[in-house]
Amino acid sequence: MLIAIDGPSASGKGTIARKLADHFKLPYLDTGLLYRWVALNLKQQNKAADDVASATKAAIHLRQHIKTISFDDPDLRSHAISQPSSQVAAMPEVRRELVELQQSFAGQAGGAVLDGRDIGTVIAPHAKIKLFITASAEKRAERRFKELQNKGETTTYDAVLTDLQARDARDETRTTAPSKIAADAVKLDTSDLNVDEAFQAALKIVNSQRNT
Ligand code: DC
Repeated sequence: MLIAIDGPSASGKGTIARKLADHFKLPYLDTGLLYRWVALNLKQQNKAADDVASATKAAIHLRQHIKTISFDDPDLRSHAISQPSSQVAAMPEVRRELVELQQSFAGQAGGAVLDGRDIGTVIAPHAKIKLFITASAEKRAERRFKELQNKGETTTYDAVLTDLQARDARDETRTTAPSKIAADAVKLDTSDLNVDEAFQAALKIVNSQRNT
């Protein structure tokens, strides 16, 4: 049972993916963390986010050491890493290094849940179950702002909204694996849904796709 989930940031896709993985007892991969890891690695080496050679080197390191690398560093999900992660994710050289490990995660015998931007289109186009989770930019910015506030980060709603729109634009217009809905994915707009309602709606979609 392979569940492919895509959608923009703060659409609720991560929460839905985690809950679906719990529900169906499947392993879960948040693929955004891979690009975030590359971006954080560059920052820690004082390299610029547009340094393709260093980003590719970091992606190769990630690919080679994926089994021992930890994704627990809270900085990975910080606001400061969001833009640079979108920059490295736009590099074909970086994406190329990270395709295989995502495909092998998706190919596990018992199945898996993956979320990202290109899961239904590039990583697992053959997946029978595909969801595209979305919400208005304002709702997503509101959620992300609250999340960052709870983590003690100092930022403003406007800064979060601007950042999110810039990231959406970059993710959607890049030439390699742009963020887009797969032709056979079902779209779920979570703008007016709470966490439980969104999960129930996603579960309904999964169960109907499973049986077709
Ligand atoms: O989902 P996120 O915000 O953690 O993702 C971080 C960045 O990585 C985001 O700008 C989009 C990019 N990304 C991607 O290009 N492909 C994926 N499969 C997952 C994330």
